[in-house]
Amino acid sequence: MRKNIVAGNWKMNKKFDEADDLINGILTELEETELGENTLMILCPPFPYLEMCSDYSNDSYFAVGAQNVNDNERGAYTGEISAEMLESMEIEYCIVGHSERRAYYGETDAMIARKVDRLLEHNIRPIVCCGEVLEEREANKQFDVVKRQITDGLFHLSAEQFGQIVIAYEPVWAIGTGKTATPAQAQEIHAFIRNLIAEKYGKQVADETSILYGGSCKPSNAKELFANPDVDGGLIGGASLQVEDFVNIAKAF
Ligand code: 13P
Repeated sequence: MRKNIVAGNWKMNKKFDEADDLINGILTELEETELGENTLMILCPPFPYLEMCSDYSNDSYFAVGAQNVNDNERGAYTGEISAEMLESMEIEYCIVGHSERRAYYGETDAMIARKVDRLLEHNIRPIVCCGEVLEEREANKQFDVVKRQITDGLFHLSAEQFGQIVIAYEPVWAIGTGKTATPAQAQEIHAFIRNLIAEKYGKQVADETSILYGGSCKPSNAKELFANPDVDGGLIGGASLQVEDFVNIAKAF
């Protein structure tokens, strides 16, 4: 059965002490209230806090993910982080192709495909983001955009490799704007994505793929979003920086 996942993407937020407080706060909450049996929480802090986060996760209340990885194996790439390094720190997940990286750092679908390859070579599960910008939605091009992103970024994989992928549909117009996709809009495109996967890899692979929604997801709308048959959780930005909000979202399944 596919997992319900709630992943916190902290982006470039929190100083060291604040990160420590946030993780501790989440742990305290989780010690008091159990999440659903099929629910997985993933914390994706900035690189410098990965080790601290992993140390806290030893009692396995949550998994740990990075927010990015370089598309090369290793070498003279000043300031970059490799999949090999993440694997050596036992990091289990990594966000790839977030719209902020596509927009501000010029990431292309081809680069995202290489990043996915490096991660899979090092046994790290990619959380691959897709989603359209506002003008594309207004022109009703969201299906074409998402199809291109998924086809070019992921469809070179074997079915077995694809089984390691988590998808995050994040409409760019909903990220950090307070404007959430309606549950019907989310369901429509999630079903479209699952259908694309089924056409390429078969129904079983499609049924087992977790497809997360991201974009102004909060405790007040998480339940309605997650209630849809093809919405398997969320990739949470702003609300993952608050203990109560994040844990309440994780309890919304
Ligand atoms: P917000 O939840 O802040 O809208 O961010 C969503 C996101 O980009 C998660 O990756």
